[in-house]
Amino acid sequence: MLIHNISQLLTLNGGPQRGKDLGRLGIIEQGAVLMRGDTIVAVGPQDELITKYPDEQRMDANGKVMLPGFVDPHTHLVWAGDRAVEFEMRLEGRTYLEILAAGGGIISTVKATRQCEYDDLYAQTRARARTMLRYGTTTAEAKTGYGLELKSELDQLKILLDLDDEGPLEIIPTFLPAHAIAPEYQTDPDGYTRLICEKMLPAAYEWWLKHETGRPLPFVDVFCETGAFSLEQSRCILTRARDLGFPLKIHADEFDNLGGAQLAAELGAASADHLVKTSSEDIAALAASDTVAVALPCTPFGLAETHYTPAKEILDAGGLLALATDCNPGTAWCENMQFVIALACRVLKLTPAQAIAAATINSAAAIQRDDRIGSIEPGKQADMILLTVNDYRHLGYRFGENLVNMVIKKGRMIPIV
Ligand code: NIG
Ligand code: FE
Repeated sequence: MLIHNISQLLTLNGGPQRGKDLGRLGIIEQGAVLMRGDTIVAVGPQDELITKYPDEQRMDANGKVMLPGFVDPHTHLVWAGDRAVEFEMRLEGRTYLEILAAGGGIISTVKATRQCEYDDLYAQTRARARTMLRYGTTTAEAKTGYGLELKSELDQLKILLDLDDEGPLEIIPTFLPAHAIAPEYQTDPDGYTRLICEKMLPAAYEWWLKHETGRPLPFVDVFCETGAFSLEQSRCILTRARDLGFPLKIHADEFDNLGGAQLAAELGAASADHLVKTSSEDIAALAASDTVAVALPCTPFGLAETHYTPAKEILDAGGLLALATDCNPGTAWCENMQFVIALACRVLKLTPAQAIAAATINSAAAIQRDDRIGSIEPGKQADMILLTVNDYRHLGYRFGENLVNMVIKKGRMIPIV
């Protein structure tokens, strides 16, 4: 299939974009893409491709923009219920960490999720995965973390794998029993940390080997934060996970600067996420590493807060910056990467080109999949989106409306109505 008459083909070629290099879209005006099966075979100006491949079946892009499908590298997709009541409480003056300390917050979703039957939980999660795809996300990382006990955490991992098998949204799983201190261990956080290190991580490893031949190991993540896991507890968990062979991620500096970003850099984590209260020293450590800084602007926005990730500082220091939704029921129920881009342009002061690169090739790097997705280049998986507009800057400029006309996932064309 040869897709032609693309006004602007954003290839995002050339790999992840560090520091001031961010925003190289690799635009081909009047471009075309040839795909066969689930793979991109050729990319270039349409005149060239039509001459070279005259007999190929064709699709007219009607002069619209095409770019790689969005990669959302931080979501908490599996949960039951909602927290609308807490949203109202926060607007009335209670803080997120106060509500968590009082047994609400993540713990209230843990209770709802533990009680939810597998099929029901699958259906609720699947609905959100469908919404993501409709808004142009073709791959999403998704975390467990609303179980906080082995069986429930493994059930959530299973849901993610089953959803990935079902498609079309591709899911890259993360094991997150360290999302909060389990309710049974409220007075003994060290005891829960030990349980994670000594029992849950080795059990997850065994479970994975038994169920998952062929897929790489999931990420292991920790919520390193006041009221969740301290820096020392986070270090124990991530070190143990690394020793078992798991790739790493961390939630760092969402509310307080505990040093999680430096820890991520030191341990070679794939990404450090949130980074709102990150110190200049921690930014320098991140920038000197290959750990991707993932900004989640929907989270402060969702919490009606005014501090956001210092994206400019991260770029000035030479860091790798990516964007994600953080889709979760507490702080940011948003499946839409177009909205993240619009927000990033305003609150992180990124240009549309920078935000698009941060939501495609750099977010693919944040989940260590930039060899396969995140750009439109020969040999890569055919994951692309066709917009309803003819200038890419409408991403960022406009918000609240879906600008995706068609999603192509592994070569399969899915019209968005
Ligand atoms: O990334 N910070 C920890 N996890 C989520 C919030 C989860 C929740 O509140 O349910 C986050 O913001
Ligand atoms: Fe998160």
